[in-house]
Amino acid sequence: MSQPDTRAWWRDAAIYQVYVRSFADGNGDGVGDLAGVRARLPYLKDLGIDAIWFNPWYVSPQADGGYDVTDYREIDPLFGSLAEAEQLIAEAHALGIRVIVDVVPNHCSDQTPWFQAALAAGPGSPERERFWFRPGKGEHGELPPTNWTSNFGGGTWTRVTEPDGTPGEWYLHLFDGAQPDFNWDHPDVRQEFEDVLRFWFDRGADGIRIDSAALLTKDATLPEVGTVDKHPFEDRDDVHEVYRAWRRIAEEYGGRALIGEVWMPDVQRFTNYLRPDEMHTAFNLNYLCAPWDADKLREVIDETLSSHAPVQAPATWVLSNHDVTRHISRYGREDTSFSFKGRDFGTPFDLELGTRRARAAILLSLALPGSSYLYQGEELGLWEVEDIPDALKQDPMWHRTGGVDPGRDGCRVPLPWSGDEAPFGFSPDDAATEPWLPQPAAWKAYTAQAQTGDPASMLELYRKALHTRHAEPALGDGPMSWLDSAPQVLAFSRPGNPDVICVANLSTESAKLPAHSAVLVASGDLDGDNLPPDTTVWLRP
Ligand code: NOJ
Repeated sequence: MSQPDTRAWWRDAAIYQVYVRSFADGNGDGVGDLAGVRARLPYLKDLGIDAIWFNPWYVSPQADGGYDVTDYREIDPLFGSLAEAEQLIAEAHALGIRVIVDVVPNHCSDQTPWFQAALAAGPGSPERERFWFRPGKGEHGELPPTNWTSNFGGGTWTRVTEPDGTPGEWYLHLFDGAQPDFNWDHPDVRQEFEDVLRFWFDRGADGIRIDSAALLTKDATLPEVGTVDKHPFEDRDDVHEVYRAWRRIAEEYGGRALIGEVWMPDVQRFTNYLRPDEMHTAFNLNYLCAPWDADKLREVIDETLSSHAPVQAPATWVLSNHDVTRHISRYGREDTSFSFKGRDFGTPFDLELGTRRARAAILLSLALPGSSYLYQGEELGLWEVEDIPDALKQDPMWHRTGGVDPGRDGCRVPLPWSGDEAPFGFSPDDAATEPWLPQPAAWKAYTAQAQTGDPASMLELYRKALHTRHAEPALGDGPMSWLDSAPQVLAFSRPGNPDVICVANLSTESAKLPAHSAVLVASGDLDGDNLPPDTTVWLRP
């Protein structure tokens, strides 16, 4: 087993997440694409990020924003072509930006040749064994094999019509019906994904983001949840074998990272995925879910660092992504935490307060040891759009819950780049089609153009923070130690010759700053030697 490379890029990278369909539209069809990303690479370089994670860009019917993949080796024509993806990777590399692609191994689209063949071949066929086909329960097989609940609401089984026209077996889908789950006990499935990994590593991908990483393997006896010790489809012990095999492939190439999407409140089980022969890093979703509260955040930070240390994996810090309510909105509400169950839509949020806290939160996150993930648009201070007309909503989460869950469209609204009215430079000026989701008129003041050069803007704060983080050897990977502080104030030191001190004031009163010789970056105005509420500062001691 190789020793962890302590200088590896993923240990302290600032990684920017590009949700392609909402980033920038190069061809004027109202949907973001690779041409749009290529034209904006200089913007990302200037922002100061180290890597880009692209959400799935593969051929897909887009039943779940591309997480329903038909061809893992080809780009959806909506976004461009494989040749263009290769160009994009080369151009990013030329700018010193690494590229992470998103691989979706738990499920595929129901339009894949494998799934179509399974439907056509009928019960008992080898084709069906690559998925989870089962007869139903009840007298005529009219009931699903289990009562498991889909992550998108509703059940996890859909009944098929057999080739002879009769109602037949059911297939498993932990997400939408258009996303059948693979059977990871099948050697074809393992082989296929090992090949897919090599395919993208061969094309220069520096990392793989692994979707729904804890869900792949299942208990083939299909017990009901809660009736047996081990969960039938979450975090099963045998899933680790998959990542050990993937790690061997990543090691063959060298310098490539495996990054897990592992939703796992239990930090010990979470860090099992980060053992030295498995993934390199995983998203710290506990940090994302934590409320804006110094004690809770400190608890998550301590738990993160102490659980990562034994496996020598770097921590990661995440505030938002394409699945969760944008953090400006969360931080502007009474309940500042995130959970899928309690998605708080419709409760008004205080934009001014949310923005102030978001500014403080990003400086806190970027000062912690490890790598950071930034979700496109957070650098512009965008909020969750909560008034998208129902007819325009696309998220299966909204559809499958009959609108009970507001869905994730509100954090996926196309970015505003320039100009005074929609599409705010998202599409070319002469585009015939409107953006695939409507942008709020108020985003006029939030375009990248409007914020550039304004030292008080969110964009300039991100630029300054990211460039300072690069320039300071103490930041990124490395040790930290807590400093004494008042209640609801987080203060810590990053030793690094020169050292950096970070102080975040989450209280409602000004806090006295520790002795310092200079202020490096502040999320808001300081009050002499005092740090106002909801403000973070980086200091030189
Ligand atoms: C997690 C992804 O982030 C999400 O967008 C997707 O819907 C599910 N996995 C299913 O692939």
